[in-house]
Amino acid sequence: DFQSASEIVIFGALGDLSRRKLLPALYQLDLAGLLNPESHIVGVARQEHTIEEFEAFVMENLTSFVKEGLDSDIIERFKSRLVYQNLDFKEIDSYKNLADTLSSGHDTRVYYFSTPPAIYGDIGSGLNAANLITPNDRVVMEKPIGHCLESSKVINDHVSKYFDEKQIYRIDHYLGKETVLNLLVLRFANSLFTNNWDRNCIDHVQITVAESVGIEGRWGFYDEAGQMRDMIQNHLLQILSLLAMEPPADLGADSIRDEKLKVIRALVPITRQNVKEKTVRGQYADGFLNGVAVPGYLNEEGANENSNTETFVAVKAEIDNWRWKGVPFYLRTGKRMPAKHSEIVIHFKEQPHNIFSDSYADLPSNKLTIRLQPDEGVELQMMNKIPGIASQMKIHENKLDLSFSKTYKNTRVVDAYERLMLEVINGNQSLFVRRDEVEAAWTWADGIIEAWKESNEAPKSYPAGSWGPVSSISLIARDDRQWVE
Ligand code: BG6
Repeated sequence: DFQSASEIVIFGALGDLSRRKLLPALYQLDLAGLLNPESHIVGVARQEHTIEEFEAFVMENLTSFVKEGLDSDIIERFKSRLVYQNLDFKEIDSYKNLADTLSSGHDTRVYYFSTPPAIYGDIGSGLNAANLITPNDRVVMEKPIGHCLESSKVINDHVSKYFDEKQIYRIDHYLGKETVLNLLVLRFANSLFTNNWDRNCIDHVQITVAESVGIEGRWGFYDEAGQMRDMIQNHLLQILSLLAMEPPADLGADSIRDEKLKVIRALVPITRQNVKEKTVRGQYADGFLNGVAVPGYLNEEGANENSNTETFVAVKAEIDNWRWKGVPFYLRTGKRMPAKHSEIVIHFKEQPHNIFSDSYADLPSNKLTIRLQPDEGVELQMMNKIPGIASQMKIHENKLDLSFSKTYKNTRVVDAYERLMLEVINGNQSLFVRRDEVEAAWTWADGIIEAWKESNEAPKSYPAGSWGPVSSISLIARDDRQWVE
């Protein structure tokens, strides 16, 4: 029974996320007519600025980050929504100034915490002391939610002192991606897939999230985290849980999140005994990307040359339940890989018998590829007869390809943050991560990190611009399988 929120308060409004994602997302919502006419956008940050300076800052960033160019009428309206308030986050008294700035007529607010998690507790207590939290208000938390299970509990405890779980929106921006959302439709609106989505029909699943970028400018932050905490604990486990969950009863937030949670809890723990067989840690070395020399991780600006942090992870994940027993989910993700390329490949089981062996000795199994980004789409690889009169039937592997850019021409791919921001404003938690999911995901990831620590091995090196360490090929080859390139 939540109302749509009418005041959006961004803590850390001058930061990178706000500049690149939040402000452009709010502009797009305004352009699409999805913001309440009365809505204000309140930027909060430490520095003192006049409203003119804040407006100029917003304009500069919208100009840089809204690719399609700006609409002058909408920009005028957008500017009139802006408010700025400087705040000493740790100083309880300064929240009174914020209270004076926020308009009293707005009873539903979104508080977007786009600051380091260490100060979430301070912001919560400041808002509370200034009487700025009502049961309708919502709070948005960005990752990282902790560094491990224990630290995530501390952050969640701080925030839940002031906000009920129903008011908390934990962002995993992958859940706002068009293609990730489409997993629900693919699985549950198509009986072909709904009925063939288990260990009887599927041999294994591959999830690849490759990025060509390196660490650029955030070495210190990244080095504390590494690819397991930065990508696997959240984005890849979210994708995996949507792929593997039981059908939810409906699209309600808790229906979906209950099912995702069961999957994460059913992940087989990886231990010191099997960590070498089931995971690969890598770190990129000097290499080439599109023919241009790029530095290795230890040679990036600000690097500590003794770092053991991983920039690549491959994992053989297994789900211990009735549906997935014996079906591995191979995950891999890394920085400085040859291209930005994320996809899921579902490998169906092989045919038990081949009556086309004269034309094709080893019938390949069907593969369903879900291209997450870029070139979003869904593709089904299948065998087909090559047309022709030859007496011996000739067959080959071809594909049904539903390319989103060809099928939905002139449709802009909505940025994940636009969708997520709208969902927060409308009070729908389906695409946000519940506390128990975060904790279950940390429990599993922590087990791997602990096992790595105990085995005390340096990450395997891979040249920048390659698909990761050679041992990531062995990880899957040991099972007689190979990565789809
Ligand atoms: C972020 C990670 O959560 O996701 C980054 O912290 C990563 O390291 C980014 O680059 C990838 O997001 P996207 O949307 O570009 O795939």
